[in-house]
Amino acid sequence: MRAIQVTEYGGPEVLRLVEADAPEPGPGEVAIDVAYAGVNFAEIRARRTGYRVPSLPFRPGLEVSGRVRALGDGVTDLAVGQEVAAFISHGGYAEVAIAPAAQVFPVPARLSLRTAATLPTVLPTAHALVHELGRLRAGESVLVQGAAGGVGTVAGQLAKRVGDGAVYGVVSSTAKAEFALKHGYDQVFVGDDWESQLAGATDGRGVDLLLDPIGGEQLRRSLDSLAPFGRVVNFGNTSDEAAWQFGAAELAPGARSVAFFSILTLAVTEPKALRELSERAFRLVADGAVELPVTAELPLAEAAEAHRLMESRATTGKLLLRVALD
Ligand SMILES: NC(=O)c1ccc[n+]([C@@H]2O[C@H](COP(=O)([O-])OP(=O)(O)OC[C@H]3O[C@@H](n4cnc5c(N)ncnc54)[C@H](OP(=O)(O)O)[C@@H]3O)[C@@H](O)[C@H]2O)c1
Repeated sequence: MRAIQVTEYGGPEVLRLVEADAPEPGPGEVAIDVAYAGVNFAEIRARRTGYRVPSLPFRPGLEVSGRVRALGDGVTDLAVGQEVAAFISHGGYAEVAIAPAAQVFPVPARLSLRTAATLPTVLPTAHALVHELGRLRAGESVLVQGAAGGVGTVAGQLAKRVGDGAVYGVVSSTAKAEFALKHGYDQVFVGDDWESQLAGATDGRGVDLLLDPIGGEQLRRSLDSLAPFGRVVNFGNTSDEAAWQFGAAELAPGARSVAFFSILTLAVTEPKALRELSERAFRLVADGAVELPVTAELPLAEAAEAHRLMESRATTGKLLLRVALD
């Protein structure tokens, strides 16, 4: 089979197409003939820095759609040939991927394999941020950083469905702002001075919920943009800064709270909770309540170009790799 492999960390050029033996499923696992693989920012961090990479050589790829190729021992609720989407810790940029059965989902009848590949990472993540951790209630306001990206596009729509509270986004260009405004956002701030723009929009009150994929100093500063009883949920570290330490001294004024979400960690520590979360989130797409537009689709061999596009902050919505040749 063809697969993308990384033998050293570095720029997009370290993503190399190789020929390899197709992997076999172990007990409790499912082998999938991959149709499409989603592209995620976490895969860029894995390629660059070894983020969550167990060892080299390494095959990136957190999510796929395709058809069941083979079932490992003990997997009884899926059938060979069935259309599925799956969340995996690595190995999605390949013609055959292995997934734990707990994270393999039948593709709902209305959805194509192309759409199904957009779901496994972004949908449950955005759902957890807005609902499970953010606990957004009708009338509350929210601000989402990276509003035009994969997670941001879904988070805006989920927040808008909650009620009549304002949904604010932050992006790095006016083109991205236009995209975000079509996906749930009421107002989108462009650039680094989002704090003063938000203060202007809210008469200095701030927001009830702030979703932060940046981390570091930006995460610390986010507390100053929260209304009383406000919550920040951090879900990434695009800043590459060291983790910020905090406690009662920072949180008690204004009775603010900070939460963290990692879908990769949840998959290891609470696979059943992640499955339930994923099923809730996927239903919203199957029902047509939420959409995640595919804005770029490249062949597997051009995985490096897909990373270049995302890294240069040129992308909106979801990027896919087309893996099956037919
Ligand atoms: N915790 C979890 O479980 C989880 C799950 C999925 C994703 N995530 C995180 O959520 C964020 C979005 O992920 P995604 O896969 O949907 O990607 P994405 O939002 O489609 O793309 C990444 C976005 O991050 C922004 N960005 C900020 N600093 C950047 C930098 N130095 N280089 C490139 N982009 C930068 C860019 O938006 P602007 O140009 O508008 O700033 C870019 O569009 C990432 O931080 C990812 O790690 C976390």
